[in-house]
Amino acid sequence: MSHQAGVGQGSGGAAAQVARTPAPDHSARGTGGRDRHAEGRWRSRIQVPDALRHPRAWLRAILRDACLGVLQAVHFRQPENTLISSSRTYWGDLRSERKQEDSHWRGAGRFEDDARWLALGQEHFEIYEEFSRAVNFRRPRRIAEWGCGGGINAVRFGPLADVFYGIDISPDSLQECARQTQSAGLHNFTPVLIDAANPEAVLTRIESCDLVISTYVFEALPSPEYGVRVLRIIGEVLSPGGMAVIQTKYKERGRATASRRWNYARNLAWNATYRIEEFWQLAKSCGLSPKMVKLQPEQPLVSDRNYAYFCLRKVPEADRHAKEDETPGRVSASF
Ligand SMILES: C[S@@+](CC[C@H](N)C(=O)[O-])C[C@H]1O[C@@H](n2cnc3c(N)ncnc32)[C@H](O)[C@@H]1O
Repeated sequence: MSHQAGVGQGSGGAAAQVARTPAPDHSARGTGGRDRHAEGRWRSRIQVPDALRHPRAWLRAILRDACLGVLQAVHFRQPENTLISSSRTYWGDLRSERKQEDSHWRGAGRFEDDARWLALGQEHFEIYEEFSRAVNFRRPRRIAEWGCGGGINAVRFGPLADVFYGIDISPDSLQECARQTQSAGLHNFTPVLIDAANPEAVLTRIESCDLVISTYVFEALPSPEYGVRVLRIIGEVLSPGGMAVIQTKYKERGRATASRRWNYARNLAWNATYRIEEFWQLAKSCGLSPKMVKLQPEQPLVSDRNYAYFCLRKVPEADRHAKEDETPGRVSASF
């Protein structure tokens, strides 16, 4: 996804945003050899502040952060239905390359670099393997991916199982994922198109699974409450003893990393964020037993940050009732 879109996403707000603005390419100005060396010596002695080097970008970032501050301070929120329908519109038409990149299609945007595309899937697979070893998880027979996009995970995890369900709200991505799995020689990919307004319909469309994965999707769900709906569905889809590997974007203190809840497309990768312990508790309330969490504060492959991978096991029914008796049912969520 376009991981740099949105307001106030950089660490440290305005300053970090300006720091990401590419420096002007002086070599293109055609200054001759001697002058260029002189300029290099001059630049190495004097540190020009970003605000002076790129004043317009700096001002824009300040204004954007101020707007975000105001919107969040007044708890501005678009209604859930509006956010859901914006997400449907956004992912419903992927003709632009930008949106294909957002959907992690092979060859699109930053994924023109095929090694990067493969490396992202490999990272997810290594996290899955690490979790599996730690909790002694056996090889899955049926896998479901929530939000399969362009197939980064499908081509890597597909060979493990008899069936790989790719669940998505985007018909274009499901087609692309089918294309990728076919060209990888896989014949178990089963596309499952769902309506963003009714994710629960998936429960009547697929068989129970041993493994559910979801990467770079929870952050792009319309709201944190919607994410809880998906977690609940995952809890139901998993067979007893099954495992889920769910990646979320974690929220820190302050406004910059809070869920946006307005202008879905602009805030794409920051629509639903959770505190780590909050997501842990929410998973429990959905019948899942959190076992481990792995943090990834920086993700250079997509130039984004604040990722948490949760290893969740499906609690067998009997245990679940026993645990419900023991623990208070309330979850302290700060949506
Ligand atoms: C950034 S891509 C991630 C693709 C893949 N999981 C990966 O890691 O490369 C996000 C995907 O989530 C899908 N998506 C967005 N909202 C969804 C929803 N409510 N339910 C299922 N999938 C959704 C999008 O269509 C897109 O394919």
